[in-house]
Amino acid sequence: MTAKITTETLVQQPSLNCDPPSIEGYVSPFANWSQESWIRSRSLRQGEITGLPFSPELMPLAAHSAIASDQDMWLKVLAYKLFSYLRFTTLLELNHVNPITADIASGRAPCKVTTQERQDAFRIYCDEAGHGLFTEELALQVQKTFDLHHSMLGRPRMELELEAILEQNKGQLSEKLIQLFFVSISETLITKYLTVLPHDTKVDSLVRAVVKDHADDEAKHHLFYRHLFGRIWNSITCYEKEEMGKILPRFVNAFLGPDQEFEYRILRQVGFNQADARGILEEVYVPSEVAKSVKKAAVPTLKMFKDANVFEIKAVEQSFEDYEYI
Ligand SMILES: [Fe+2]
Ligand SMILES: [Fe+2]
Repeated sequence: MTAKITTETLVQQPSLNCDPPSIEGYVSPFANWSQESWIRSRSLRQGEITGLPFSPELMPLAAHSAIASDQDMWLKVLAYKLFSYLRFTTLLELNHVNPITADIASGRAPCKVTTQERQDAFRIYCDEAGHGLFTEELALQVQKTFDLHHSMLGRPRMELELEAILEQNKGQLSEKLIQLFFVSISETLITKYLTVLPHDTKVDSLVRAVVKDHADDEAKHHLFYRHLFGRIWNSITCYEKEEMGKILPRFVNAFLGPDQEFEYRILRQVGFNQADARGILEEVYVPSEVAKSVKKAAVPTLKMFKDANVFEIKAVEQSFEDYEYI
């Protein structure tokens, strides 16, 4: 992994205009952290995977007739989906969420944070390390159970997109600021994987339990980062708001849009030739339908942007309109 985490600190960015923060409105969601968090109160889940590895309804590719008509292929495709989701989660926690959360916990945020908020960032840091551990454990088990090839995963789309954005904005925007917003978006998106999969009784009970463990913690992280987003947005300069604002829909797209290159590799792996694999993806992912589905999935995050007055900047509003998210 080559995530571009630099040693610069947010507090060293001269362009940041740190207004005195308001501490009103933040109620810590971690009051019962010791009793409720996975890392403090639960254990690694044990068991065999005997049921479906993933919700078929959460993977449009699996519903394509060329796949759904072959039970073995269908199961393999669902297993690769779970494998990739787990690896995605591990990489996101280790390479992105925790380096940024550590900055906040140690007082290197772009604006002042309260002692309570720093303590909560420490708790998130511990939680994410636990998530990295249990998702990696389950990923290894899934790989073994379904005889999956690790090389099929490649690098997740969200990381490639982040790297492209960092490169395109070199010298214009602080890398750390871009990374902070990247993490804030990822932490405020409560994906269907977290909300639907734990309750889908068709899915294997071990998989559901692990995803539920994650979802329970992330509901609290969502509240923390949602609060922090407004604070940070209000503390950056007008120039940074306009430039960062234009990047935000790209982040939403990177996290919620389908990773078609990964799915192409799956299709090739299960036996389709290049042309057929591309043809299937074109049939499954019609651009206007993808945009609608991303918009629907991003409702809480889009509301967070609206509440922070992100769309008041015309160029930013236009960028979201270009993606058909507003
Ligand atoms: Fe997490
Ligand atoms: Fe989190």
